[in-house]
Order: sequence, then C-alpha cells, then structure tokens
Amino acid sequence: MVDSTRKVYLFLWDCNSPMDKTKVAIVGVGTVGAGVARILLDHGDRTAKNAGTTLWLETAVVRDLAKPRDCDLPDGVLTDDIQDVINNDEIKVVVQLIGGVEAARTIMLELLESGKDIVTANKALIAEHGPELFAKARELGRSIAFDAAVAGGIPIITNLTQCLAANQVTSLRGILNGTSNFIVSQMEQGADYDGAVAEAQRLGYAEADPAMDVDGTDAAQKLAILAHIAYGAEIDWKKIPKTGIDTLDTVDLKYAEELGYKIKLLAVAQMSDDGLELHVSPTLVKAGLPLAEVRSAYNAISVEGDQVGRLFYHGLGAGQKPTASAVVADLIDTAVGRTALTFRTLKLFTEHNPSVQICPSEKIVGRYYFRFVVADEPGVLADITRIFGTHNISIASVIQHEPDENETQAEGVYVPLVIMTHTACEGEAESALTEINDLPNVRPGSRKMRVLN
Ligand code: NAP
Ligand code: HSE
Repeated sequence: MVDSTRKVYLFLWDCNSPMDKTKVAIVGVGTVGAGVARILLDHGDRTAKNAGTTLWLETAVVRDLAKPRDCDLPDGVLTDDIQDVINNDEIKVVVQLIGGVEAARTIMLELLESGKDIVTANKALIAEHGPELFAKARELGRSIAFDAAVAGGIPIITNLTQCLAANQVTSLRGILNGTSNFIVSQMEQGADYDGAVAEAQRLGYAEADPAMDVDGTDAAQKLAILAHIAYGAEIDWKKIPKTGIDTLDTVDLKYAEELGYKIKLLAVAQMSDDGLELHVSPTLVKAGLPLAEVRSAYNAISVEGDQVGRLFYHGLGAGQKPTASAVVADLIDTAVGRTALTFRTLKLFTEHNPSVQICPSEKIVGRYYFRFVVADEPGVLADITRIFGTHNISIASVIQHEPDENETQAEGVYVPLVIMTHTACEGEAESALTEINDLPNVRPGSRKMRVLN
C-alpha cells in the first residue's frame, strides 16, 4: 500500500512537471526518525513541490530490525547496516537521527567522507563536536543542517542565521527543554515529579536518558549552539553554569504563585558590561510576561536584536511531529541547495569572535528568590537580614507564614522563610547563602533562584 502511494505521487509529478528524485536515507528510526519517514511517505507531493525534486526514502538504518517502528516503511527500506548507506552513491542526503555522542560522531564522519550532506537533530553531538564536524564537512564540500537540534519546531536557527542577519543580538532568553517545561507544568497541576517524567518519556519528549533533560544538560547544549550563532563566541557547553528542575520542590512552585511568578527552566545568553552572560536555571518569571505563559512541552525564545528590537518565538519544542517538521524543512533546504550556500558563507563553529568574553558567573547581576527553613525563634530574621546587608543585598519582600502542626518537630518549630531581593551580584548572593546556611537556626535545604521581571 505504501509503495503504491509513492507511485501515485511520482505519477502525478511525472504528468505535470517531470521531476528528478533525490534519494534520502534516515539513520535512526525512533521518535523523530519515524516522524520524518511519515512525512516523506505520506506527504510526498508536498515535499516534492517544495524541494523541486521527489524526496525518495531509499534506506532507513536502525540497530534492531525486530523492533516495531512507528511508521510503515516500504519493503526493502529498513536495514541494520550503515554500509548500505555509505556504499550507495545515489543517496545524496542523510538524515542522522540517532542520539548520544560517540557513535553518532563516528557515523556522521563516515557519512561525510562518503559524500553525503547531513541533516540532524542531535544537539548533544553539535554542542560537543560541532567544530570538528563542520570543519570536516567544509573540507569535503558537504553541508550540515541542524535547525531541529534547538527548540523542536521553532525555526530559531534559520531565523538567527538568515532572517536576523542584519542584527547584533543583544539578549536571548529561552525555554529550550520541552520535557522540563512539561514536567513543571504537570507539577503545577498537582502531578508528582516521577509520574510527570514517565509521561514525558511516553510522549516522546525526553532524551533516551531523561537525566539530560531534567538536570539542565540538554538546555545548556542548546544554549551553547544558539549563543555561538548569535554572538560568534566559542562556547564550551560544559562551562555554562546550569541547574535543572530535578532540584525543584513543589513548595517553591506554590511560593512563586503566591508572589505572582511562574517557575521556568530559563536559558539566558545576554551581553553585559562584564561580557556575555550565560546560564541555565529554574527562574521565577513574572506572571504576564510571555515566557511565563509557556506551558507543557512548548518552547519559547525571546530574542532582542539591535535593529529589529524584541521578537518572541513560541512553539512545540519536542515530540515527533514538530521535530520532524524542522528536519524535513532542512532536508528540503538541502535538496534545493540553500543549506550549502548558508553553510559555506557563515563558517559556523569554525570561525569565532575573539572579542566576545564570557562574563564570570559571580559578576552576573539580577534579582533573587531565597527560601530558608528556619527556627521560629527571636533573632533569626535579624541574623539573616544582617548577612544580606553585609553583602549589599537589599530585600524587596519577605514571606513567613504561621507554622502549622506539621512543621512542629521534636527539636522545635521550623518554618519556611521566603525572601525576594532587589538587584544583586551573583557572587554576593552565593556568599550570603553560604553564610546563612551556616547559622545554627537554619536547616539544610535552602533554595536560591533567579528572578525575571
Ligand atoms: P530515539 O527514539 O531514541 O531513536 C533513536 C534511533 O536511533 C533508534 O531508532 C535507534 O535504533 C537508532 N540508533 C541508535 N544508535 C544507533 C546506531 N549506532 N546505529 C543505527 N541506529 C542507531 O531518539 P529520538 O527521540 O528520535 O531522538 C533522535 C535525536 O533527535 C536525538 O539526538 C535527540 O536528542 C534529537 N531530538 C529529539 C527530539 C524529540 O522530541 N524526541 C526533539 C529534538 C531533537 P533502535 O530503535 O533499533 O534502537
Ligand atoms: N528532550 C528534548 C526536550 C527534545 O525535551 O526538549 C527536544 O530537543
């Protein structure tokens, strides 16, 4: 049935405008790969019209041939041997959709060596080995397209590299991990953390190892890619300070709500007097700001350019269809020849702007939310405010509710104390936290989060 559908498309195109076909391979037919296969097989007329050539799915490579696939592949397409792609000179473009880094790197280098252009969604690979892979592609006259690697269906890489080319980006703030945003949204509605993680996995949002989503790794890798494109800086994603949502407590979601904020895993790259600020962390975002309203597996990116002003991008950041949408758009761009032009001109991951310095994290300036668990005794608040004062941190508001019986422990009454600060230096905020944690009347488990107004 699938085969006959493909023949209908070819027949239609043969009747109206004779068209060649571009043979394509997919390496990795998991969540995203199956979505790409579905678009190529079910919407061949659409992709052929937009590419000016039929995108013909010739081969699909997996590890385990016996595993069920979320797509109906025509007979003879599926293989577990990458050599079927490497040795087929008629395959011009390969969609590389295996996760992880080392096997993916080796396969991508082999594919480039065998003369294939590449489309990928693997951000871990680009963040880790972008310079090597892009240099190799350039040396061999090939191209790598990777818009699906950041923010799923949002065409942020095409926008930064092409549509905003007249601008210097001054600020970029994004919700870049759909899984984390989904989990926090679920927790806001009362779901437990582990159940929300399992649901994100079931829906195909999470990485093969979901720890990469919830500990901020995935967002840091995406931020490194975006920051390189936006500022030309050479960025090692491992050096980006990151905290994930795996440390988030539901009590903080409740206090955020009470204060008029939403907690979002925010990735930030913005220019300051001390250099390029980079960080990924759960952040209290003022309710009403567009970023605060981004729910479920949606991503959003607020970009400010010196010419265009502020732009806001919003869309599904994970999942089969939105990611496959971005992959197939890259595939079409590659078939048309647009990718090769941009790839040649931009020299991404090969040339760096040496004048962009990374801001030391202790110099980053912002507002902070603190939550302490303190003994309900005279003098505790005074001790804490004195420490803030010595670090030149001004307090904006304080919440301490009367203790309820659950907070009465054998060793006394302990209550949460929440403090919102005015603008302060990260280094001072960290030192204050350390000193406060050392006070005898403060229990372990303090929290500090950034605030965005
Ligand atoms: P997935 O469901 O785990 O699928 C990975 C596929 O790669 C599987 O089909 C697997 O084969 C195959 N594979 C793994 N190692 C292989 C090898 N050495 N040789 C041949 N095939 C191999 O992953 P996914 O969610 O589709 O994600 C794929 C990539 O896209 C990842 O880099 C991910 O970070 C990225 N991405 C994912 C999303 C999303 O929403 N899921 C969004 C944006 C980007 P078997 O099935 O036989 O094991
Ligand atoms: N695991 C990733 C996420 C997939 O949840 O955002 C999209 O890159």
